[in-house]
Amino acid sequence: MQKILVIGACGQIGGELTLSLRKIYGGENVIAADIKDEHPMLKGTGPYTTLDATDAEATKALVEKEGVTDIYLLAALLSATGEKNPKLAWDLNMSSLRQILDLGVEKKLKIFWPSSIAVFGATTPRDNTPQKTIVEPTTMYGVTKYAGELLCQYYANRYGLDIRSVRYPGLISWKGEPGGGTTDYAVDIFYGALKDKKYSCFLSEDTYLPMMYMDDAIRATTSLMQVPIENMKTHMSYNLSAISFSPKEISEEIKKHIPEFTIEYTENDPRQAIANGWPKSIDDSAARADWGWKHEFDLSKMTEVMLENLKIKLEL
Ligand code: SER
Repeated sequence: MQKILVIGACGQIGGELTLSLRKIYGGENVIAADIKDEHPMLKGTGPYTTLDATDAEATKALVEKEGVTDIYLLAALLSATGEKNPKLAWDLNMSSLRQILDLGVEKKLKIFWPSSIAVFGATTPRDNTPQKTIVEPTTMYGVTKYAGELLCQYYANRYGLDIRSVRYPGLISWKGEPGGGTTDYAVDIFYGALKDKKYSCFLSEDTYLPMMYMDDAIRATTSLMQVPIENMKTHMSYNLSAISFSPKEISEEIKKHIPEFTIEYTENDPRQAIANGWPKSIDDSAARADWGWKHEFDLSKMTEVMLENLKIKLEL
């Protein structure tokens, strides 16, 4: 019987991932943990505990007490927030991963840890970025993600640790709140469109970035954790792709539903420089071949679902 611990369960991915894992494995078998108070979306769905992701002793005690077999480690500082406090980004992102990898070896745990398109930098080919390519991240977030990938690969090769990982693109959802990412405009734009019929975008109109609707990202995560380990041909993180669009393209899609919607573009936002170093689109053929990954949501389906559900959530 699997006993799962989700660390960072109140974050952008953690909330929805916890709910999905609880559907698959049963509410009581998925312990949600975060340094923050329990997110309202999790209340009443299963056990919750507060935990500092960098506290190795507390994590070990929890794993022993609950007989945890699988850990999903999602606690991290993202790209834009990480640039405001690079030291904290390194400390949080790396020490949390390192302690979970050590615990994983000691207790023979199965681990999921997310990487990101932020591992790529200005020297990477930007169109259809390959799985294996030049990797020179320019943000501290990207540096921690690439260092983390190498660390995961090392632990897999050296200790036989079962560690699995994907490079998430920008994630879009109406349920949780994004926090501190460069791709977050693609969530904020829906709030602007519904509440004010306008949006001021911090990226330029032709900035293409790889994106994904959250349901696809969650399904990718839970299915990667279920594939036989022999299927996995890499212990680095898998490229993962769904859609790629620019602020102009998503605004035009929104206009199909809200014709009066307008968008303007602000200049000199530091997030533009981050986006300029990231891929425009991703080649995820390795994930598709090794474990059958396939996205379901395209731009128009995602826009429809976002507007429909956010309207209800915002009581508009
Ligand atoms: N969504 C993340 C960010 O923008 C990318 O992994 O920082």
